[in-house]
Amino acid sequence: MRLDRRAVVGGALALSACSRGEGAAQASAPLGEDPTYPTAAGHAAAAPPVGAAEVPALRRLAPFPVGTALLTTQLDEPAAAALAAKQFSQITAGFEMKMEVTVKDDGGLDFTRGDRIAAYARQNGQRLHGHTLIWYAEEPKAFKALDGKPDFAAAHDRYIQAVMARWPAASWDVVNEPIMEQGEGLRECLWSRNLGAEAYIDRAFRIARAADPKPVLFMNEYFLETKPKKRATFMALIERLLKRGVPIGGIGNQSHLSIDVAPGLAKAAMKDLASLGLPIHVSELDCSTYGHGLDLRSREDKLKAEARVYGEVMEAFMALPERQRFAFTLWQPRDKDSWLRSAPGGHPDDSPAAFDDDGRPKPAFYALTNALKRRA
Ligand code: G3I
Repeated sequence: MRLDRRAVVGGALALSACSRGEGAAQASAPLGEDPTYPTAAGHAAAAPPVGAAEVPALRRLAPFPVGTALLTTQLDEPAAAALAAKQFSQITAGFEMKMEVTVKDDGGLDFTRGDRIAAYARQNGQRLHGHTLIWYAEEPKAFKALDGKPDFAAAHDRYIQAVMARWPAASWDVVNEPIMEQGEGLRECLWSRNLGAEAYIDRAFRIARAADPKPVLFMNEYFLETKPKKRATFMALIERLLKRGVPIGGIGNQSHLSIDVAPGLAKAAMKDLASLGLPIHVSELDCSTYGHGLDLRSREDKLKAEARVYGEVMEAFMALPERQRFAFTLWQPRDKDSWLRSAPGGHPDDSPAAFDDDGRPKPAFYALTNALKRRA
């Protein structure tokens, strides 16, 4: 794929990554006196009335980076931008650093939307997590035009080099969601067809490592809690990559969950994944308040169930050895920002986030802060 000079020149002006220290440096901040809120064990209580108490900041409570995905549309909303600046010490672009935005039909690169996310993170002393370089779901026209052609590999390599030069993030999801939905094997995609069924993964990581020796390089996957077969296939792949010396530096456990995820599944999955010895990034946590089938619970009971799930994931993450606690990222700050509201099969009133539509903390938020305080 031809890179235009603007893009290459842009690469030379790459924004600097944010330091890792901000979140950890403030971890020793005094802990506020929170009323008792839901814990992973499910001891439920309603959230406090709005304004009843200063809302604690996750980035001050956690001894590791706590992140969120952000869209440029949220940067245009002062309340959303302020909430994310207060609460989080790491930022992931919801979609602005993906090929669907960066790769133009003519093969040129457009970094403008990703630049805004990177600039926001830098201005707020937040670490940047790059998401994502190679993903089966993103097959832009300019790459499809090279399908089966000799220049495909070189174009793939140039793309990774240009994006990583533009956004020198602290970490990258180098390959996203390589495993088939039910864990039967590896997905077949434009990248595997042209670069090898599994070899495309090796290549992406090796090119990324050569492009920048600093960022932690992740492979990111979902449903690792609720589909043990998928988790086993994912883990077996990682073991093969490690054996081949592929420079994979961490596991992204997306954790897109729902209120009917059975207690203990998240904890068991985290422990299993951690057995590989790599740093873990809870990379996309949200919890749909729509489970499977008819659910007659009240909204309040659904929010308590959601708080239990959030609390269990945080407690499972905090039980990891410190060296394996890379970061804990929520996939959106507020319910209204969630992809689940507009995704096919989604629900316009789904409430999967830790903050409600108005940016008020929900029981799920206090389940996180409770878990953090118990371990402090
Ligand atoms: O901002 C534009 C808007 O201007 C336009 O009118 C509208 C309709 O075309 O599109 C809007 O952009 C959409 C963007 O979400 C913001 O809503 C993109 O088309 C849409 O493709 C994009 O979807 C994102 C999706 O990944 C695909 O990139 C979701 O926000 C994002 O939450 C979702 O995140 C994925 C992770 O990357 C990987 N794990 C699963 C997760 C959920 O699917």
